[in-house]
Amino acid sequence: MDRASGRGKTPPGEIPAQTVPNDAGSGEAGVGETDAVSLGELKRVNRMRRDFVANVSHELKTPATSLKLLAESLVEILDEDPEQARFFAQRLKSETERLAQLTSDLLDLARLESEEGLQNPGEVDVRSVLMVVLARLRPAARSKNITLSWRRSGSASLYAIRGDETQLTSMFANLVENAVKYTPPGGRVDVEGESSDHEVVVRVSDTGIGIAEESLPRIFERFYRVDKARSKETGGTGLGLSIVRHVAEKHGGSVAVESKVGQGTTFSVHLPRV
Ligand SMILES: Nc1ncnc2c1ncn2[C@@H]1O[C@H](COP(=O)(O)OP(=O)(O)OP(=O)(O)O)[C@@H](O)[C@H]1O
Ligand SMILES: [Mg+2]
Repeated sequence: MDRASGRGKTPPGEIPAQTVPNDAGSGEAGVGETDAVSLGELKRVNRMRRDFVANVSHELKTPATSLKLLAESLVEILDEDPEQARFFAQRLKSETERLAQLTSDLLDLARLESEEGLQNPGEVDVRSVLMVVLARLRPAARSKNITLSWRRSGSASLYAIRGDETQLTSMFANLVENAVKYTPPGGRVDVEGESSDHEVVVRVSDTGIGIAEESLPRIFERFYRVDKARSKETGGTGLGLSIVRHVAEKHGGSVAVESKVGQGTTFSVHLPRV
């Protein structure tokens, strides 16, 4: 599961920071050393690719194996024990959903990584994107008795940025979904927007379980989950934050995280208003 944790920008058309650390090929080599550097780089990129394929295969194999076992068990007991059969069918459904989610996240990521810049940028009102996201996640928050709040500062007219509305919606949905998912019942999730002439900043804070300091540099990596067992339970694939980082950077912005175990986490997204 080891991948480089590069968190910097990915110039359009280059291999994403996640597969190659930021400083890769940064031109430290003098004249005549270029070939050696390229060869080293090539080897590293190939290794990263192999790791990625291995990770994807592993992640796909687990739900695929469960599906097979569940289907077999279902066939066996269908007539004898309808109650148990119902349980297996339910599990079959949730494992299928998990597999579908994983595939769709992988496709999103692949698209984000392969496309150069933004494909169809338009004027997007970050406020309305957040309203949609909050409405979407309110039922999940309510069912855990979590207070989900929204606060805005800065002029409403300064929330317009140039961007891709679908990508931005998916980015904020991932952050708010995580906040709700990793906050115990009765907690709070606060979404705060701040606009200025040059940027829009969105902070998603929660009073949840927090993230240990040693894990913080890795959480934006593909497939990285702090607590694999717990994350599996909640249906996580570990791709959400990877998508978040890509979307922020595609928009010329960035994402940062602050967290204290047992107290909560704040993700801050900075989006330039260009
Ligand atoms: N708000 C948060 N509070 C505590 N831990 C978090 C929070 N957000 C993310 N994490 C940790 O970072 C890991 C990576 O998050 P990410 O969103 O990429 O994956 P995920 O939520 O497990 O799965 P999914 O792909 O479904 O989003 C999570 O597994 C979790 O351990
Ligand atoms: Mg997530």
